Amino acid sequence: MLIDRYGRIATDLRVSLTDRCNLRCAYCMPADGLDWLPGPDVLTDAEVVRLVGVAVERLGVREVRFTGGEPLLRRGLVGIVAACAALRPRPELSLTTNAVGLATLAGALVEAGLDRVNISLDTLHPDRFAAIARRRRLTDVLEGIEAAARVGLHPVKINAVLLRGINDDEAPGLLRWAIEHGHELRFIEQMPLDGQHSWNRSEMVTADEILQSLEDEFELTPLGAAQRGSAPAETWLVDGGPARVGVIGSVSRPFCSACDRTRLTADGQIRTCLFAREESDLRLPLRAGASDGELARLWQVAMAGKQAGHGIDEPGFLQPARPMSAIGG
Ligand code: 5AD
Ligand code: SF4
Repeated sequence: MLIDRYGRIATDLRVSLTDRCNLRCAYCMPADGLDWLPGPDVLTDAEVVRLVGVAVERLGVREVRFTGGEPLLRRGLVGIVAACAALRPRPELSLTTNAVGLATLAGALVEAGLDRVNISLDTLHPDRFAAIARRRRLTDVLEGIEAAARVGLHPVKINAVLLRGINDDEAPGLLRWAIEHGHELRFIEQMPLDGQHSWNRSEMVTADEILQSLEDEFELTPLGAAQRGSAPAETWLVDGGPARVGVIGSVSRPFCSACDRTRLTADGQIRTCLFAREESDLRLPLRAGASDGELARLWQVAMAGKQAGHGIDEPGFLQPARPMSAIGG
């Protein structure tokens, strides 16, 4: 098991397959992009599958989510999904993606064994999309979402981040759209994980504000703490249900005490938290010939050092050196 000093057990593994992305969302990357990881540092497909295998077969991980950067940019993605689907016990497999290019790949991913997708969509206006993502790709994203639903990856989960003065009026419109299409929408508070370190708490659109603006147009009924479990989204029934909406108040309503996650970066580092300031290297031991048992032991030692919480509200808080694109959502 992967258990930390506070008794939390990690059963959910997030695997970043690349730090590259074809968008430049303002809350994640600077307009000019970042220095990408050097190729030789990035784990090969076989190395990724080996480490996921250690997590699943020896450490009790039951859910594996592939992230990036943008995981669809990873050439071996379909093969990695297929190899992970062959592990026993078979883990749940999901993908967090911006959906650019998903229209082409969705069918092959489902055949390989993908169970679910989370897709980022912050706005339905092409100009706003271009302002946030700095690329005119809204049509590709909408086509990707449609394809995901068509091949059976439903309910498609949609993640939206609201930015003040850009799309902060769009919560009800996005929810209406999601309900019409049968997608499950969750809003995520903007976190201090951008490559340019420009996050500012007073600028953040809070969970309370998001709920207030939804309540102007919808009747929301809370689904209660039991429904939240270790899932970070608090969920509400919309207009009596069955439609729902989630709000992830990562900053204003932290859920660290129920965290069940562990993370692997594209260059083979274990991170115990998005906001961890330390990483534990598995790449070097892996390439030096460590056994599965030795790798599992190193992972357990890394998890023992997991901090109680992200500490965003503490005076000494420092943003992690890596931005979201290099950690994975
Ligand atoms: N704050 C909140 N959410 C973010 N995401 C990326 N960067 C941030 C941030 N700074 C979201 C993406 C994606 C998910 C993985 O995390 O929009 O949906
Ligand atoms: Fe790319 Fe996702 Fe970062 Fe946007 S948030 S730039 S889609 S990695």
